[in-house]
Amino acid sequence: MKRIKVAPSMMCADFLNLGKQIETMEAKAIDYLHIHIMDGHYVPNFTLGPDFCRSLAEATKIPLDIHLMIENPDSYIPIFAAFGSPALYLHPETSYHPLRSLQLIRSRGARPGIALDPSMPIDTIRPLLPYVDFVCVMTVNPGYAGQKLIPHTINKIKKLAGIVAEERLSIEIEVDGNVSWQNIPLMIEAGARILVAGSSSLFQSASPLQANIERLFTLIGRGGECT
Ligand code: DX5
Repeated sequence: MKRIKVAPSMMCADFLNLGKQIETMEAKAIDYLHIHIMDGHYVPNFTLGPDFCRSLAEATKIPLDIHLMIENPDSYIPIFAAFGSPALYLHPETSYHPLRSLQLIRSRGARPGIALDPSMPIDTIRPLLPYVDFVCVMTVNPGYAGQKLIPHTINKIKKLAGIVAEERLSIEIEVDGNVSWQNIPLMIEAGARILVAGSSSLFQSASPLQANIERLFTLIGRGGECT
């Protein structure tokens, strides 16, 4: 089975202790830092912005995994694409011309990804799949941490994984939302290869970040990397 990658959801991080948390993530071979950009329009919440991305890009070599939950993404793609060739995701329904927006991401040196709302069927993005490196299947409604998995989304991961294999596409499937200790095996079994880990696992307040990272790495068969 392909190596499962881990992308901590930075909106769930301890902002008063961020430097120390980044050190812990670097020491533990974390793969990406997942950053939700919310504009209060596409989703009814506000989170992080360009300055936060810049500080992270300057502070660490861990690649950024930037998730645009915003309207009118084309205006902001050049800004976010500049932070070290990140993975840059958009929700296709936020763009008048999703293919043009994905091509804009690639032309700016970033790696394009599609983020799929739970209500959006896989078939709507099928024509776009040859143009992206990633697809993020949202397993909760976008906007807030602490929500419960929406059950039908597991079948969406399975369907997408089938299409990716059938069409031999080089796409990594990411999941975002209630990536919990119980749901992780289901999500991997369905075909997820990148886990956006938030308050349901890595940032669970019951235990320190380091212990949660070790528990997650053991669960996904990478325990040996945590010694
Ligand atoms: C939803 C958020 C959450 C968050 C992860 O828009 O994107 O997915 O990062 O946190 P939990 O684990 O609380 O779902």
